[in-house]
Amino acid sequence: MANSVTFATSINMSVIKYWGKRNEELVLPMNGSIGLTMDSEHLCAKTTIEINPEFKEDRIWLNGKEETMQNPRLQNCLREIKKRAQVPQQMVNWKIHIWSENNFPTAAGLASSAAGYACLTTALAKLYKIEGNISGIARFGSGSACRAAHGGFVRWYPGFDDLTGSDCISETIFPASHWPEMRILVVVVNDSKKKVSSIEGMTRTVQTSEFMKYRAEKISPKRIDQMLEAITNKDFEMFAELTNRDSNEMHGVCWAAYPPIFYNNDTTLGIIELIHLYNNAKGGHKVAYTVDAGPNATLFLLEKDVTEFLSILHHHFPIIEEVISEYFKGMPVGNIPAPQELLERIKYPTNKPGKLKYIIYTKVGDGPKQLPDCEAVNLQSQFK
Ligand code: PMV
Repeated sequence: MANSVTFATSINMSVIKYWGKRNEELVLPMNGSIGLTMDSEHLCAKTTIEINPEFKEDRIWLNGKEETMQNPRLQNCLREIKKRAQVPQQMVNWKIHIWSENNFPTAAGLASSAAGYACLTTALAKLYKIEGNISGIARFGSGSACRAAHGGFVRWYPGFDDLTGSDCISETIFPASHWPEMRILVVVVNDSKKKVSSIEGMTRTVQTSEFMKYRAEKISPKRIDQMLEAITNKDFEMFAELTNRDSNEMHGVCWAAYPPIFYNNDTTLGIIELIHLYNNAKGGHKVAYTVDAGPNATLFLLEKDVTEFLSILHHHFPIIEEVISEYFKGMPVGNIPAPQELLERIKYPTNKPGKLKYIIYTKVGDGPKQLPDCEAVNLQSQFK
């Protein structure tokens, strides 16, 4: 039997955001969330795992570099998986080697740990023959990994069982094919490491932000229902407004922490302002934005609007000529000059080139995918 497997998993970007835990140990969120899993062709964590009686100890390599196994989140995932393993006990006792790599920047607010833990948990479940919904296990690695364990449009339920967290799981509410015109632009503003981790940010917000409880109790449940309606009816206007509002509010709650936490930078705020001006000039919501715990913005829009919006974005945030061949990643994008009549209606200054590092153009994806052995993460990296 195969003692090694490889999976690729993309990130799941929330449109109703998870922020704040009611139980840190069990990773139970204060509110439910909804997110869209991206296409792993363009953005993914790839993980190969092997169990082997010859291995002397558990080891892990991330992006080619050996890291410690003594990471509590990793240990929690492994523990939960081993509890449910359906293979002979001797195999459960074999040591494990894990190799994982991302094709996007780590810890830059792009949910890299979510993709990584969702990928690891899915691979572990396959190797140890665990059936059923494993999102509740991925949750122990990274909260939002719970959503990334599924494809399409995903809902994460906060659950009611505060003792074991058994009902705190996610599920696909619609497959990617439900809304095939939906497109995603990941706008990478700054790919350096973020200053306040999401763990620290959430803890401080829960402890000090007066807005936190109000958001979790009064705003989020209602907004989840509205978002379900928007996605069910493929109502982009409603989807966009809810997405924008929820992102702004998550950051508002962070501002209200003490000391305050800022994840946006000037460029992030500029993108948000430009999107509002563009939507206004178009007479309705054509573009939605959301920002996680970092400065990058993820934009949602329908396929028919992508080329025009990019022409406006790059008019105001010009690309450095020398890096243009590296700038567009993911699916191919069209290229048109920004329409003059729109530019006249959008009163926004032009920034100096290079504020945006690159863009990943993708769509909604089908979730974790098993890869053939020939696509395993380069195992030789352990010897480098
Ligand atoms: O996955 P975590 O535990 O690092 O939490 C990150 C939460 C956000 O990405 C900021 C929001 C979300 O809903 O994913």
